[in-house]
Amino acid sequence: MEVMTVLHMNKGTGETSYAKNSTLQSKIISVAKPFVEEAILEVLCSNIPESLGIADLGCSSGPNTLSVISEVIDIVHAKCVNMRRLSPEIRVYLNDLPGNDFNNIFMSLPEFHKKLKVDKGAGFGPCFVSGMPGSFYGRLFPRKSLHFVHSSSSLHWLSQVPSGLDGKAGPTLNKGKLYISKTSPECVARAYADQFKRDFVLYLESRSAEMVTGGRMVLSLMGRISNDPSAESAFLWELLSLVLMAMASKGLVEETKVDSFNAPYYAPSTEELKSEITREGSFTIDYLETFEASWDYFGCGEEYVPFSGERVAKMVRAVVESMLESHFGGGILVVMDELFRRYAEMVDDHLSKNRAKNILVVVSLTRREAPQSL
Ligand SMILES: C[S@@+](CC[C@H](N)C(=O)[O-])C[C@H]1O[C@@H](n2cnc3c(N)ncnc32)[C@H](O)[C@@H]1O
Repeated sequence: MEVMTVLHMNKGTGETSYAKNSTLQSKIISVAKPFVEEAILEVLCSNIPESLGIADLGCSSGPNTLSVISEVIDIVHAKCVNMRRLSPEIRVYLNDLPGNDFNNIFMSLPEFHKKLKVDKGAGFGPCFVSGMPGSFYGRLFPRKSLHFVHSSSSLHWLSQVPSGLDGKAGPTLNKGKLYISKTSPECVARAYADQFKRDFVLYLESRSAEMVTGGRMVLSLMGRISNDPSAESAFLWELLSLVLMAMASKGLVEETKVDSFNAPYYAPSTEELKSEITREGSFTIDYLETFEASWDYFGCGEEYVPFSGERVAKMVRAVVESMLESHFGGGILVVMDELFRRYAEMVDDHLSKNRAKNILVVVSLTRREAPQSL
């Protein structure tokens, strides 16, 4: 599977679109908000730059995309008013893979600019918003052009299916499973961890070149407290593999296709994140915190409300449908509704017996001063 060309959230604004099924991701954005605020204020504290560069990486399309940017702009505006300073010009770069529904974002920009003018006054800005299609696992922006980088619910997607698990050569190593499972051979977990490390270091190196010294970056992604990679959020993949295998036994999908599908996803442990950030060396860790994230509960003192299988199924469908279609072929479209109906039932059953644990990691980083070259 070529992740770069295949992966995209469900487009448009229909029933199965990402725009309609991204409330979990929206909650994740709110959980990270205090970290974003702290980071932006820190960027502006010593010296407000004439031109402020902000990037949202893995922005997708839908209500979350411009909500993050609006939040950042509100913080900048409030700070400038507070300091009785003119606001800087703001360059906003919205990045995602080329298959993302950028058209949908661009269509909403006139309304966004109009609201900005009404809320902040004609003297604010100007604010230049542009799209940057491409993979964040590599350079996207000119050197030292960014002061703040944000990425939410995106960095758990790998650049590719881990080598050796892509079914291109040799035997299928992870039969009947889509991700690391309790029954997966050890080499599967190793291949996933190695791929994550390679990708994450490349991500850090690329941002290191693009960010100014003292620039800040806030990343929120699915991760792990447990050392066991088949624990916590892995249950979503485990249940999807059980549904696909049940459908394969009825001849509704090809079993060999289930055997050869491995999701380009990895939820790293906090230790893995810290160790790669330290090893790469361009950033200091200001904060690294974990939250238990489910539909209606983030471990922030709210009451625990179990989420419904139907809602989980809609969220998972909006995210993985493009990959399923690419891997299984167009034939799977005929049984897609059935697949996610069964998945919703299975999630309901699972959640009636277990408390789901999705661990969200929020990490806030500062770009270190580069060592003086000789
Ligand atoms: C679950 S969505 C999150 C979107 C948005 N940030 C939010 O919080 O709602 C993950 C996004 O990351 C994007 N993505 C995954 N891998 C990427 C990569 N290598 N480069 C750029 N975007 C990527 C996907 O295309 C998808 O739009």
